[in-house]
This record gives sequence, structure tokens and C-alpha cells, in this order.
Amino acid sequence: MKPSSRLERIPPYLFAELERKIAAKKEQGIDVISLGIGDPDTPSADLTVETLRAAAADPGTHQYPSNRGRPEFREAVAAFYERRFGVELDPATEIVPALGAKECVFNLNLAFLDVDDVALAADPGYPVYTGGPLLVGAEPVLMPLLPERGFAPDLGAIDARARDRARLMYLNYPNNPTGAVAPEGLFEEAVEFGRANDVLVVHDASYTETTFDGYVAPSFLATAGAKEVGVEVFSLSKGYNMTGWRAAAIVGNPEAIEAYWRLKTNIDSGMFDAVQLAAAATLERCDDFAREMSAVYRRRRDLVCDALRAIGVDVTPPKGTIYIWAPVPDGYDSASYAEHVLEESGVVVSPGGAYGPNGEGFFRISLTVPDERLTEAVERLRSSLAG
Ligand SMILES: Cc1ncc(COP(=O)(O)O)c(C=O)c1O
Repeated sequence: MKPSSRLERIPPYLFAELERKIAAKKEQGIDVISLGIGDPDTPSADLTVETLRAAAADPGTHQYPSNRGRPEFREAVAAFYERRFGVELDPATEIVPALGAKECVFNLNLAFLDVDDVALAADPGYPVYTGGPLLVGAEPVLMPLLPERGFAPDLGAIDARARDRARLMYLNYPNNPTGAVAPEGLFEEAVEFGRANDVLVVHDASYTETTFDGYVAPSFLATAGAKEVGVEVFSLSKGYNMTGWRAAAIVGNPEAIEAYWRLKTNIDSGMFDAVQLAAAATLERCDDFAREMSAVYRRRRDLVCDALRAIGVDVTPPKGTIYIWAPVPDGYDSASYAEHVLEESGVVVSPGGAYGPNGEGFFRISLTVPDERLTEAVERLRSSLAG
């Protein structure tokens, strides 16, 4: 049996590889602490679960959902965007549910890229921004995110040939993996770029609800003109501990939303109605829950950053996300450091190079493990460095 050549084009998915390594260590009886994957360790809100329970008990939710989404879901997203970001959205034409941001980002490639078109993707960045274009026969062109630019891409430096062929641009703030928040002026520049080059700007807003130290993350759509050139993918996964639910929405430019919807009617049959109702209730009534989770991650962020600094790692505490992005110690590259840490101390960190060439020299720690396990993990990192 031979998989398609398109599948051969992409490297193995980073976390699939990590899961394999972790499983092998566990089989050897090693107490592995995984700081690799960003998957919240505490439950979803009671209100979310109770709403699902009641909705699932109603046979009215048991048939095929509509790819357009239930009015309750779309109206809840619109009310949330207005209250939280000051962004007005028309629930009829500017909001459609998505089965997680990952699904949505991938399918945007199918909806907008022809063979040999270009998608501009952040480097380092979430792997689907590059894997997605490759899987549809298009080309991801990397936009370096450098610490000295606050991890903002330099849109003026994009090669003219790539610019002419570009149809999509992926941005993501607060940013995975760097933890950076939206750099001043970037969203405005992106609107200009999208307009001048007929590029759909896709802002992945997976981490807007997880922020610290008084920072409140904006929506890309709050930027003047953004809705003319862009969409935002908002996910409930991280901010509301709902990774397992596959609940997100794509919002913004109505023509882009229509194209995504049209594509999706050929691919799946929408989000379970009971999940839509639970997600709607969450957006309506769980602001406090998201704030409390941010407080948990802030505490863990400080714990990790203090410990890393104490062992000489020069780390900048992020203002958002569930990640710490830190330089690897001298004498290692990111892969050899991740390998070393796993071998010596049973701790899994993500090698920065797996997020793109400009992730080289860094490693990523996810804060989605309980405080005592984090403390133990950092202690093990300390010993492995000393040894
Ligand atoms: C930037 C970014 N986008 C999307 C996702 C996936 O989100 P979802 O669970 O909504 O598919 C992740 C998960 O790690 C992410 O980091």
C-alpha cells in the first residue's frame, strides 16, 4: 500500500513523534513528565459539562447538525466578540463553527490555495501553517519571527515572487511557540499587506484568553479594515480547557467564511449540536473561568521562569499563552537538548527547531501540568544541567 505523494511531502507531525518517544520511555518504567504538548490538565467548566449533559439528553440534538451552526452558537460568538473585543459580527454571514482551530486552519488551505500558490507562515510557528499548504500542493513561505523584532514578521522583507504568489498569511498572537503578544502596529501592517497583495490574512486567536500581568489580548478584527481582508479563528480549546471538545469558530470576512462553509459541506457534517450549545453557554458565562485559568498559568509561568533563571537560562516571562520559550544551554542544539533532557531526566520538552528553522536554539515548555510536577520537572532539568 502506498500513501499519496502529498503525504510523503510533510515531516511526521511533531507531537506524534513525541508521543511515540514518551510511550517508549514509559514502557521502560520511567516516570516521564511531559512538558511537550499544550493540553490543559484541569477539567472544563462545570457549566460547560452540565450544558452538554442536558443538551445531549434532548433528542433534538441527535440528528445531523448544520455546517452553518446553530443560531444560539453564532449569536453567542457575536455577543462574546462585542463584549470582549469590541468587534461587531453578523451572526448570519460572519460566523461559522469549526471543529477546532486545527481543522479550520488546515481546511482554509484547501479553500484558498491552488497548486503552486503560496501561504505565508510564521517561523517558528504552529506546524499546521506549513503542513497544511504542503498537503494541498501549495508552498509555505516562511516569515522569520525574531526575538529582536518582538517576534513580529517583517512584512516588508517578504520576497517579491513569494508576495505575488501568496494567497494566505497566517498570524497568531498570543503566539505559539514564542509566547509573544501582538507586536505594536503589526495588525495594521497586515491589513495593508492583505489589501495591497490580495492575500487573505488568517489570525489564529487560540490563546487570546490566556494572558498575564494585566495584558488583555486584542482581536485582529478590531483593527481598522481587518474584516475586508481577513478572518480570525477563535478556539475554546485552551482558554476554557476544552481541547477534547473540538470547538472553535471562524469569524470575519463574509466571502471567506462562505468559501470555508462551502468547502466544509463537502467534508464533514458540522459540530454536534449539544457541543455547540455547551460552547455557546461557555462563551456567555465563563469569563471568570478563563481568568482563573490565566491566574493558574501565571503562577506556573513564574515558577518555571524563576527556576530556569536560577540555573542560568536567560528566559523572558511571556505575557500570554501556556508556553515558555527559552534558549537552549550552550553546547546543544534544540534537538540534542530535548533528547538529552529526555534521556537524562525523563522530562519531555519540545525542540524549537521543530517549529521552523528560526526556532533552532530554543526549547518550549508547556505549563499544562500540575505545579508539583512542574517543580519536579524543573528540578530534574537543573540536575541534568549540573551533571
Ligand atoms: C496556534 C495554535 N493554533 C491552533 C491550535 C489547535 O487548536 P484546536 O484545539 O482549536 O484545534 C493550537 C494547539 O496547540 C495552537 O497552538
